[in-house]
Amino acid sequence: PNVRPAPTQCVGPDYRSESQKPTAAVSTDVKVDTVTILPQTPQLIALLSIIRDKNTQRGDFIFYSNRIIRLLVEEGLNHLPTVEHTVTTPVGRSYDGLAFQGKICGVSIMRAGEAMEQGLRECCRSVRIGKILIQRDEETSQPKLFYDKLPEDIADRWVLLLDPMLATGGSAIMAVDVLKSRGVPEERILFLNVLASPQGIQNFATKFPKLRLVTAFVDQGLDDKNYIIPGLGDFGDRYYTR
Ligand code: PRP
Ligand code: URA
Repeated sequence: PNVRPAPTQCVGPDYRSESQKPTAAVSTDVKVDTVTILPQTPQLIALLSIIRDKNTQRGDFIFYSNRIIRLLVEEGLNHLPTVEHTVTTPVGRSYDGLAFQGKICGVSIMRAGEAMEQGLRECCRSVRIGKILIQRDEETSQPKLFYDKLPEDIADRWVLLLDPMLATGGSAIMAVDVLKSRGVPEERILFLNVLASPQGIQNFATKFPKLRLVTAFVDQGLDDKNYIIPGLGDFGDRYYTR
């Protein structure tokens, strides 16, 4: 994948002239067909600015992360198949529309990925949810698989894989290997992610060239502890414990 450095762009609303718009660092561009980066709107940049801020308290971190997660879920659902579907309106006219096709399920990479389950449930009522517990070793950054519990018919479903952070890519790659071992083809997995590093995207997209990834932002890189920079710190700690 061709990953370019993040430019600083004018992101203010359209009622201001270009010269009056505030500038902000927007996502690094990634020229890979399977990677979708959410539009870098003023809303998204403002939401990300709140959750990146080290002074943001847990209540606000949860509230504003949830808003970003909702945007990711709505965009992710656009990548699922639809069929033509005509309905009759209350005034007796017909409308040629669309209907979703196919069964889905969510799979969260615990613990941080569980924070994305509610956003999926808000869009897809009574959606089945599976879990994979993978923890990154704090010293080596290597992922370790502890547990998984997945719907029995997962091989017949589209899978929305949930994890807000893609750093080295090790955890997400391990999770996809589990899904593939249960018969889910790569092209029926959609990975929803809040923040990615260019290295993580590169590793993940190279290993799984048919798997689609939707992210809110591709950051600058990784630090010497393999934390995303500028990043937002440890998502799981900030969402669940701090
Ligand atoms: C975090 C995060 C990802 C992983 C990303 O989880 O939620 O799963 O690290 O890093 P990687 O791309 O280098 O593998 P962590 O293992 O820290 O557990 P947590 O969800 O309990 O915070
Ligand atoms: N996991 C996180 O929560 N944050 C990072 O920056 C990297 C991995």
